[in-house]
Amino acid sequence: MLDAVYHAFLHLAFRSGSVASIFVVYGPKWMPITGNFFQFKSLLKEMKYVHLVWKQWASQYGPILGLRLGFDRLVIISSYRYAREVLLSDEFEGRPDGFLFRMRSSGKRLGIVFTDGSFGQRQRKFCLMHLKEFGFGCTLMEKKLTEETNNFIVHLTEKCKDGPVQLYSLINVHVLNTLWTMIADKRHSPNDLKLLSLLDYIHASFHMQDMSGGILNQMPFIRFFGQGRKINKFNLEITNKLISFLKETVENHKQSIKSNHTRDLIDAFLHEIEKEKLLLTNEFTEEQLHILLLDLFMAGADTTTNTIIFLIQMLIKYPLIQKKAQKELDKIFQESSVPTLKDRNRLNYLEALIMEVQRFCNIAPTTIPHRAKKNVKINDFFIPKNTTVLVSLFSIHMDTDHWGDPETFRPERFLDSSGRVKNDKWLIPFGLGRRRCLGETLAKASVFKYVTSLLLNFSISTPSEAMTNFQPIDGAILFPAPFTAILTPRKRNYSNTLSDFD
Ligand code: HEM
Repeated sequence: MLDAVYHAFLHLAFRSGSVASIFVVYGPKWMPITGNFFQFKSLLKEMKYVHLVWKQWASQYGPILGLRLGFDRLVIISSYRYAREVLLSDEFEGRPDGFLFRMRSSGKRLGIVFTDGSFGQRQRKFCLMHLKEFGFGCTLMEKKLTEETNNFIVHLTEKCKDGPVQLYSLINVHVLNTLWTMIADKRHSPNDLKLLSLLDYIHASFHMQDMSGGILNQMPFIRFFGQGRKINKFNLEITNKLISFLKETVENHKQSIKSNHTRDLIDAFLHEIEKEKLLLTNEFTEEQLHILLLDLFMAGADTTTNTIIFLIQMLIKYPLIQKKAQKELDKIFQESSVPTLKDRNRLNYLEALIMEVQRFCNIAPTTIPHRAKKNVKINDFFIPKNTTVLVSLFSIHMDTDHWGDPETFRPERFLDSSGRVKNDKWLIPFGLGRRRCLGETLAKASVFKYVTSLLLNFSISTPSEAMTNFQPIDGAILFPAPFTAILTPRKRNYSNTLSDFD
């Protein structure tokens, strides 16, 4: 009875605006001001991963879980059915506002990831249109990827002669280069210390955050005290470092831009700023360009690399799977021939392997936070306007009723009885709907190109059997645990001509 009364109260507390509803969103009881923050922290200490906290609470309160973290109202969706409902509905196209998101842009809502409505949609459309102009999703993208993976293999062949290799930063710079040539017409050397330090800052930023928004969003006053002050200072330091690199890149473009020529996305944006000056819309400004670049840099830098590295860890952990994938490749590609993106439909096992890594490793265990743009109902549960809504992709990818044995790494689950790839609509590593990942085409192509190049040219193992217990590191996205790999070259001819770095 007490519980029913409590939940009725919870419902009232969850209500905003004038829409009445007789339904409640269930969740743990909250405290004034801090909400569920301390329960969340204590459960996180036990569970180690934020997505496991959501899983634990969802098992108690259901797949539409209501929480309060500091001043933020939060709903976590843990079932496929409601995830589709949220992600495919225009009402949840919004992104939350908050101190942390505005801190990057002198208190304004800018960029592409944390903006919405007509402004956000226009920026997203502009980005996609111009990234396509510079190769995104086209033959030019494949050309760039082939050149970059070839460079990567040449570097790796040299590096692995000195013993076990730390693959992460080497792959990361090459992966980023393809995106960066479209954005800034520039490739970086994997030894570029400045870039490597920026990438370290991005990792630190991802490790510090979780997709619920973090303490600085939930209780912004905390930035004036003790630990909160430290977190705020470190956040500012990271943001300033990244923004000053991006400002420098834009300044260099401004020095050399020509009115009748567009080299990359930055040039296209600078041209648009000039055009928009006459319209006085104030939507295309240099400040917006800096934050948009920051968003693309952050979203594109680690996500793809983490997927490739998680896949390598699985190849090390399951040598038979590695052999099987190599056998499939060897059958089709002899000597020096290189797989193209069109070959994806001939490499069924490899495609199934990539899909299983995306399901099992959950690089993005949740979506980026969405925001209800008005009062809405999901399955008769009332979600007030401005509630933050997170979809737990992890829960969908690990649903026992659907997958049967989700804890088992088994690429065959994505193959039919004749060995052809079998898609499963429950696999949604890039999200769904209007806020679906903007980089999906590039990410998928990159993973395919790097993985095929690696498998064709090397056998991958570990210096010690004991080192295969790869525990991911938590953060806004999951990071693979650091490790070294032994790369044994396989007998193949490859072109060893390197392209110059800028
Ligand atoms: C395997 C690699 C990747 C994975 C698993 C991934 C996954 C995701 C997910 C789950 C979202 C959130 C969707 C939502 O909030 O509903 C997202 C958003 C986004 N991703 Fe990716 N992503 C990857 C690579 C990339 C790359 C290479 C780029 C670079 C262009 C990129 C750019 C973005 C952007 C800009 C957004 C925000 C879109 C928006 O707010 O409208 N992603 N991604």
